[in-house]
Parts: sequence; C-alpha cells; structure tokens
Amino acid sequence: MIAKRAQDIAPFLAMEVLERAVELEAKGDHIIHLELGEPDFPTPVCIQEAGARAVKEGKTGYTHSLGILPLREAIAEHYHTKYGVQVSPERILVTAGTSPAMWMVFSAILEPGDQVILSNPHYACYPNFIRFCGAEPVTVDVHEEDGFQFRPDAVKGRVGPRTKAIFINSPANPTGTLLSAERIAALAGLGPLVISDEIYHGLVYEGREHSILEFTDRAIVFNGFSKAYAMTGWRLGYAIVPPELIRPLQKMHQNFFISANAFVQAAGIAALREAQPDVERMRAIYDERRRFIIPGLRRLGFSIATEPTGAFYVLANAKRFTTDSYAFAFEVLEQAKVGVTPGVDFGSNGEGYLRFSYANSKDNIAEALRRLEAFLTRRSA
Ligand SMILES: Cc1ncc(COP(=O)(O)O)c(C=O)c1O
Repeated sequence: MIAKRAQDIAPFLAMEVLERAVELEAKGDHIIHLELGEPDFPTPVCIQEAGARAVKEGKTGYTHSLGILPLREAIAEHYHTKYGVQVSPERILVTAGTSPAMWMVFSAILEPGDQVILSNPHYACYPNFIRFCGAEPVTVDVHEEDGFQFRPDAVKGRVGPRTKAIFINSPANPTGTLLSAERIAALAGLGPLVISDEIYHGLVYEGREHSILEFTDRAIVFNGFSKAYAMTGWRLGYAIVPPELIRPLQKMHQNFFISANAFVQAAGIAALREAQPDVERMRAIYDERRRFIIPGLRRLGFSIATEPTGAFYVLANAKRFTTDSYAFAFEVLEQAKVGVTPGVDFGSNGEGYLRFSYANSKDNIAEALRRLEAFLTRRSA
C-alpha cells in the first residue's frame, strides 16, 4: 500500500528523542529539553494582536495563491532595507511555513537523477525533500575547525553535469555558524543555481548574515517567521524565486494548497513592520545563553573548535565520550534527563557530535549542565 518514496523517508531523530522524552515525562521524570529547534518565547504581542485583529475583521477566507500582496510587499521591503536588494513581490510565494516552500520548490525544479549539493552536516530534512523528488543529495563535508563552512574548492569538485543546485544555510542548523561573504560569492560563481535557506536570519550574534541575493539573482531564497519571530506554530514562510519559476509554483500552490492562512499572513506583516524591537530583545537573550552554554559545555569536556555565532545551536564534539551519537543521546536522556540531538541526525559527518539548542532559559541550561556533569562523572567512574 505504501509508496517507496514514503517508505524510504528517514525519521527525524530530534523528534524521536523528543517522543522518548515525553514518554519519560509521562512516567514522572523531569526532562530538560535542549533537543528542540523551537524558540521558547511566546510570539511577540504586536504579532499576536495583528493576527487576532485579522480574524475579527473577517480575514478568514482563501487569499491570492501567491500570498496577499501587502505581505509580499513587506517581504520585498524587508529584503531591500536589510540587504539592499530589489525583489519584486511578483517573485515571492508565501506558504504555510518554510518547509512547504521547500517541498514546492524542489518538486518544481528537480527531475529524477538531478543532484543537489548539501553540506555534511546539514539540516536533517533537506536530503529527504530531495530524495522524495527522485533526485540525489550530494554531500560535501564541512569541518569544525573551519567553522563548518563550505570550502568553495571542495564544492567545485562535486559539481558535475547532473548538479541542479548548491544548497546553503547560514546561519546553519545544526552548527550555528555562518558562511562568510567571500565564500558565498565564490559559491555563487561556480555556475549552478544557489538555494539559500535564510530562516535563521535575524538570529546572529557576531558579524552579519548575508542574503544570497546580494551576490546573484540566479538563486532561490527560503525564509520564514518560525525562528526570529517565535512563530513556529503559526506556520508562515516564503520563497523568493527567479521570475520564470513563479508561474509553475503558483499553479502548484493553487492545486495543492490553495493559499497560506489569511489571518496568519496579516500577522506576518506586523512581524516584518513592527516586531523588530522584539526580535532584538530575543536575540540579546539568546546571545546571553550562547555565551553561557559554550564555556559550560567546554568545561564538561565537549570540544567546540569554532564558537557558533548564529541560530540557537551548538554542535559540540563529543568524540571523547562516544563514537555513537545516537546511543549517547539516548543515554544522556535516560541517565541525565536532558534531551539532546545526536549529530548523526544531520549527516554522517555529524557522527560523534551532539547538538544542544539554547532555545531554553538560562536556569534550565544551568541545570542541564549540572545534570550532565554528574552523569559524565558517574559514567567515567
Ligand atoms: C534550517 C531549517 N530550515 C527550515 C526549517 C523549517 O521551518 P518552518 O517552521 O518554517 O517550516 C527549520 C526548522 O527547524 C530549520 O532548522
């Protein structure tokens, strides 16, 4: 009954850790969740109010399949103000989260046998979107001592006749590191289309993030409101695509999704136009936690060769403790009652690492570090 493409899809291990954590909680255990890539803040009030107002005003019907024009205009304005790039609202497709935008775009551009170059490690879901379309993820290892950045020469070595796109994500999940402007420019110059997942933009603590559109128009941007605006459950994202791609995407969206939610789109306008002080407030708190968790993990014996400067993750080297990050993550969960994500979730080159999310309070992070210390001391005794 089940199609091969559905059968073959890999589970998302972060969710498996979470599901086991929930089982333990049901039995009365107290778990600290550092496995989740989800802001622990409520959605800023100005966004909540805009959403509620839109519902009361009756903005509860279908919208234009590309998204309401005022939101697409606000997105274009945001890209202009922040990155100095001109994006026509006609090139923007608004979707119910970044994930559906990825599914739509990969389905629209990939033929069976096409290849997409990904970093290894990478966000766990990317290869699954690609394989679902019958295409092939081709990975290029990135290394902690190099800030987990793509080396353009290494990427060039993997570009071939079947390469459809090079995929970048900066700041990245799971590493929390950024790609330098020089390397983005070099990747943009390699020839293939560059696809850039910019969902962690706005959550940068040192230096600054760059949009791929600063370097080339032969690019596709994914972005969304889940992370910087603490809106995971609202489900709102978008793609910015070359002009020739918008009509096929529009037809697909009309058929498969009709439109994104009307009142959520209204809330998205408030996010872009009014929530900047809230984003800054949350960013400053994440930064404080980042500066707390990095030395804390190092003290416990995890090694962090390049300090992450974006998103809300630390991918810490745990090779001193294990070569099996999956087993170790479950051991940490069962014994220390701390949820962490095994590095292998993010590709073979993530093996031996654990991803810690600091989208949790400083008090909880401090308690997690205490629990980990006691666990590691017991383990080495
Ligand atoms: C790198 C990356 N891209 C995309 C997503 C999905 O985001 P959305 O909630 O917009 O579907 C996530 C969620 O964790 C992510 O980490």
